[in-house]
Amino acid sequence: MSPRIAQIRLVSSHPEVYEPCDDSFALVDALLADRNNLLEHNPRLCVEVGCGSGYVITSLALMLGPHIPGAYYIATDLNPHAVRVTSETLEAHGVHAELIQTNIASGLEKRLERMVDVMVVNPPYVPTPEDEVGCEGITSAWAGGENGRRVIDRILPIADCLLSDRGWLYMVTLAANDPSQICRQMKKKGYAYRIVIQRSTEEENLHIIKFWRDPDCELDVKTPVTNKTFPERVVESLVSQFPQLSSWRTGGSNS
Ligand SMILES: C[S@@+](CC[C@H](N)C(=O)[O-])C[C@H]1O[C@@H](n2cnc3c(N)ncnc32)[C@H](O)[C@@H]1O
Repeated sequence: MSPRIAQIRLVSSHPEVYEPCDDSFALVDALLADRNNLLEHNPRLCVEVGCGSGYVITSLALMLGPHIPGAYYIATDLNPHAVRVTSETLEAHGVHAELIQTNIASGLEKRLERMVDVMVVNPPYVPTPEDEVGCEGITSAWAGGENGRRVIDRILPIADCLLSDRGWLYMVTLAANDPSQICRQMKKKGYAYRIVIQRSTEEENLHIIKFWRDPDCELDVKTPVTNKTFPERVVESLVSQFPQLSSWRTGGSNS
């Protein structure tokens, strides 16, 4: 039996809320393609930033829910209409998520710090004039400012704060957003990545990229080029994070 996802006929709508579109479908297809890994991952907390109609968070809850009954879902959106529409979409499918009207995850930093096992984001990614970013109504659903990166570049550091050590981020990007540069930037923060789905439509070339923390990436970037062996680099990294270990490295002792 194929996994359940949200049904378009049950997805609620409002003139000021983004309707599920090619990008939303590509994101849900990416989650479906990675579903076996997600089930094995056994996430406790899943968060969607920018939930719009609720199509994605509802699909995620439906595809994981029966197998991971303890998982908790949170969805945010800047647009108050989107929060209401998402609540209707969730209810129509018999699933639950906590809904929060906020800017990205503002106000949730302390509560969710390093807690999120799965984060999904279909951000406003269309290159637009800067003044359209974050404005009221439907425009903020797609307006991404210069290169479509204004909101994406604010989401990435927040994702880094909220993702747990084993956290995964799935994000939609457009070719114009320079996804390779986004991947390089995330690699510097210690993330590995892979493109789960690449989809070209007449209008857009979309990538759904999955990011996860990978200690090797962190080491690659933080450690200058040296002749050190891998175990030596691991020790170096640990010492840089926990300076109290430095005496252990040098064989010293406080006693
Ligand atoms: C491209 S739509 C995606 C909607 C839905 N996730 C989907 O895939 O169909 C982007 C969504 O992000 C929301 N959004 C834009 N800027 C935001 C911000 N700063 N914080 C939270 N949500 C934001 C918009 O209101 C919109 O609902």
